[in-house]
Parts: sequence; C-alpha cells; structure tokens
Amino acid sequence: MKIAFFDAKEYDKREFDKQNKGWEIEYYETKLRPQTAHLAHGCEAVCAFVNDRIDGDTIAVLKKEGVKLLAMRCAGYNNVDLAAAKEARIKVVRVPAYSPHAVAEHAMAMLLTLNRKIHRAYIRTRDFNFSLSGLEGFVLHGKTAGVIGTGKIGGAFVDICQGFGMKMLCYDPYPTGGYRYVPLPQLFEESDVISLHCPLTPETRHIVNERSIRKMKKGAFLINTSRGGLIESEALLSGLAGGKLGGACLDVYEEEANYFYEDNSQQGMADEKLALLISRPNVILTSHQAYFTREALSEIAAATLENIRLFFEEKRTPNEVSCAK
Ligand code: NAI
Repeated sequence: MKIAFFDAKEYDKREFDKQNKGWEIEYYETKLRPQTAHLAHGCEAVCAFVNDRIDGDTIAVLKKEGVKLLAMRCAGYNNVDLAAAKEARIKVVRVPAYSPHAVAEHAMAMLLTLNRKIHRAYIRTRDFNFSLSGLEGFVLHGKTAGVIGTGKIGGAFVDICQGFGMKMLCYDPYPTGGYRYVPLPQLFEESDVISLHCPLTPETRHIVNERSIRKMKKGAFLINTSRGGLIESEALLSGLAGGKLGGACLDVYEEEANYFYEDNSQQGMADEKLALLISRPNVILTSHQAYFTREALSEIAAATLENIRLFFEEKRTPNEVSCAK
C-alpha cells in the first residue's frame, strides 16, 4: 500500500517514519496541485496539508491516478473541494484535534509579545540600546477579550485569558454553554482583544472587514491563528494605518499558500499587502506555526496513520469529512 505525501518537511518525515508500521510512503517536497497530482501515480492514498490546492482539477488527476483516500494531516479542510472528492469517490479524512492548547498558547504568546513589545525590546537590547521609548504596553487583567468560535482551540484560549483575569465575550452560532455569548456586533464593539477561532467557510470569509473594524474599539488588538481568509487584508491594513486597530497578531494570511513554509529571503516579497503588514511595528506575523509543537506533530502522525489504517481495513473512521458514495 503506497501513500504519496505532499509538502513534506524534514520534521514531518521524522515523525511519520517513527510511527509508520509498514506503509510505503513517498515523500514529495512540492505542494499538491493540479500540476503535481500525477506524482500520486500508483498510490491509493494521498497525504496533504493546509496549503495544498485540492480543487476540482487536482482531484480529477488524483482520480485518474487511482487515489481512493485523501488524508489531510490538519484540522481545516477549506482547501479541499469536497463535492469534487465525493464525485470522484475519494474519501477525505482529517485530524480534527491535535493539541488545541498548542494553538491557543501561540495566540497568547503573540498577544503578549505584541502588547509588551518584546519583539522590539529583544532587538534593542542586543544592540545595548536600553531605552524604553515606544515600548509601553497595557495590562491584560480586567480587559475584555472577544473570542469568535468557541470550539476546541477557542475554548482553550478562553481558559488562558481567564487565567490572566480578562473578561470574556464569545460568539459562536453553535454555543456550547459555559461561556458568555453575545451577538457579533456587540463583541466587536466591546472587546479590547479579538481572537478568531472559527473555521473558514462561506459565512466566515472576511468576518473581519471594513464594517466590522469600524465597530471596534480604538486601539483594539486582533489575533488570527485560524485561517487567513477570515480577515479582509486591505481593511486590516487601513485599520492599522488609521490607528483604529492597536495591533494585529497573525499566524495566517489570506494568500499564504504562495509563501508560507518556504524560505523567500532571496526573492524579496512580491505580495505588497504581506510586505506592508510585516513592515508594521504593531504587527507580528508567524508562518502558520501555531500548531508546531512536538506534541502536535506526534498527534498528527498518529491520527493520520490511524485514519489510513481504518480506511484500508474498510472500517469507519470518525474523522471522515466526506463520504464517497
Ligand atoms: P472546532 O471545530 O473545535 O471549533 C470551531 C468553532 O467555530 C465551533 O465551535 C463552531 O461552532 C464555530 N463556528 C462555526 N461557524 C462559525 C461562525 N460563523 N462564527 C463563529 N464561530 C463559528 O475547531 P478548532 O479545533 O477549535 O479549530 C479552529 C480553527 O483553527 C480551524 O478551523 C483551523 O482553521 C484553525 N487551526 C489553525 C492551526 C494553526 O496552526 N494556526 C492549527 C489547527 C487549527
């Protein structure tokens, strides 16, 4: 049984090879897209990640090559055309939870860094510049955090904020109880810090846009560790430039698939919006690394290999996203 593994990095190989009990895995550094899907020739399963482009064209090639299973080694599957997969009788499985605490902790790490200007202080003191000018932050205790999406990661982030003594406001169309839910406009209006933890769907695309930013408190901080498409980048840039937003902590970006996870240092940055965001002192941007912990890598490999095993043993997996009929 062969598996074609796309967008493979050294740390993926290490963890999958450690846990693999007999599948033949062909690792490809390239991302999965229509032009590379033929590499899956002779493989019944394909393993893909967040920035692979698994649209109708890619799926058509995978089908032609005989692929039966698409094993996403991530939680989100917004980059998969599920209808096309169903049509092609390719099952899609995913890893619904791999250390939600890893992502929630990264969100708080970015907030603390940006608010207390640690990123700037670190550079200054390395140059023996011990001036505090421009490094003033604010106390989180007593401030209001708004959490959009109170699933596994959002819930873990609420717990962390409460540990800091923050007041919480939450929004989720499917409330789970235990949190203080308010309508979305109220969350935008009353929060000092807003953190996005909902999936990217047609309803949530650009949930943060020019209109919602206008509702926000002056100086509000925005955190996005979920998916780049939740924020309209131009509206974010104007909100930051006009001083309406105090800062943004971004682990994801709308057009990240072209850049993230690769070393672009020699080419410069062709995406002007990304370059502008990175150049702002009140923006911290990480390269979709919120999950990137030993625990999450291990859980991703274990769950993905288990999903594949269950599929080939013709057992139902609870982690199926769509069912080929
Ligand atoms: P989850 O499924 O446990 O929670 C998502 C929550 O969002 C659910 O409570 C759901 O009801 C809510 N939701 C759905 N539609 C909504 C809407 N229109 N407005 C507000 N809330 C809505 O998912 P989990 O595990 O908490 O992950 C959340 C997201 O985090 C994933 O969809 C993924 O995009 C992102 N993620 C990012 C990672 C990173 O490394 N940066 C790693 C893992 C996940």
